[in-house]
Amino acid sequence: MDRIITNEELIEDTQEETLRPESIEEYIGQKEVKENIDIFIKAAKMRDESLDHVLLYGPPGLGKTTLAHIIANELGSNIKTITGPSIEKSGDLAAVLSNLESGDVLFVDEIHRIPRFIEEILYSAMEDFKLNIIVGSDNSSRSINIDLPPFTLVGATTRAGDLSSPLRDRFGIVSKLQFYTTEELTQIVKRTSRVLECPIDQDAAVELARRSRGTPRIANRLFKRVRDYALVLGSGTIDLAITKTALDKLKVDSLGLDDTDYHLLKSIIEKFNGGPVGIEAIASSIGEEQTTIEDVYEPYLLQTGLLKRTSRGRMVTDKAYQHLKIEKKEK
Ligand SMILES: Nc1ncnc2c1ncn2[C@@H]1O[C@H](COP(=O)(O)OP(=O)(O)OP(=O)(O)O)[C@@H](O)[C@H]1O
Ligand SMILES: [Mg+2]
Repeated sequence: MDRIITNEELIEDTQEETLRPESIEEYIGQKEVKENIDIFIKAAKMRDESLDHVLLYGPPGLGKTTLAHIIANELGSNIKTITGPSIEKSGDLAAVLSNLESGDVLFVDEIHRIPRFIEEILYSAMEDFKLNIIVGSDNSSRSINIDLPPFTLVGATTRAGDLSSPLRDRFGIVSKLQFYTTEELTQIVKRTSRVLECPIDQDAAVELARRSRGTPRIANRLFKRVRDYALVLGSGTIDLAITKTALDKLKVDSLGLDDTDYHLLKSIIEKFNGGPVGIEAIASSIGEEQTTIEDVYEPYLLQTGLLKRTSRGRMVTDKAYQHLKIEKKEK
């Protein structure tokens, strides 16, 4: 079964489109990123130039795709979207690039998954707006140079570390999205309540926000589940009691942790005496992929201070022992 609190996109998140803010003003939180991008967009417009290329990175569900669309909206540009894994041959990328129009935003989602040998095409495309490709076979191969119109590449990735440095260096604007505060998520929950026309009490909105792992996608998903409980068990308005009942039933605890988090923290405590322990050992002990742990589970546990990273591996913190109500053994 899918985790209700996974930050990865699930099929049930289909209404994400309607919940997606469309302007920079509507985009809640990420103050620093927003302020920077706002200035750069305004400056680019005043100079009548294309916006510098933008790299957005951070854990799933924090609003990278949303922000890419907002950038295009604010520029008054068209957006074309491709994903890293869909680019299999140089020609795939060349076709997309040669179809760009002046000022377009090219959104490349999961940009770290473009194969390296294809990625090189992006270097001159991004730097000089030139497309250099080699066509033909070994004996009769020739290189073609095509001028491209000025465009803005917006790249999104959950793993900035996986980007090659020549690619990373070609982004003028590099922004890391942060987990949202409870206050910001409360605003997001209230906005969702307005958009879906389902009222929620203030204290219920705060409770929901607190249990959403700093992630808007999770807040919106939990909102919809809690709404169902309110409809069936209550008056339709989401109040605090319903919210608590629903989230307890969904096994999302007061910090937004679920069984998988418990499993992870407990196995570090029980099998490795709290750590430090390497990520590979954790991965095999709980039967998960290392990258899933690194990209999906761990960032929030690190952020909330339940887990810490040391040079010798991961360690659970005193806060984790307290939260799990497990007594710490002396070493
Ligand atoms: N700043 C925000 N204000 C309001 N809602 C937001 C904000 N950021 C994200 N959301 C909501 O969260 C949902 C998920 O965001 P989005 O799809 O942009 O995440 P992402 O970072 O692209 O995730 P992934 O890494 O999985 O692609 C959006 O549909 C939107 O409803
Ligand atoms: Mg996305």
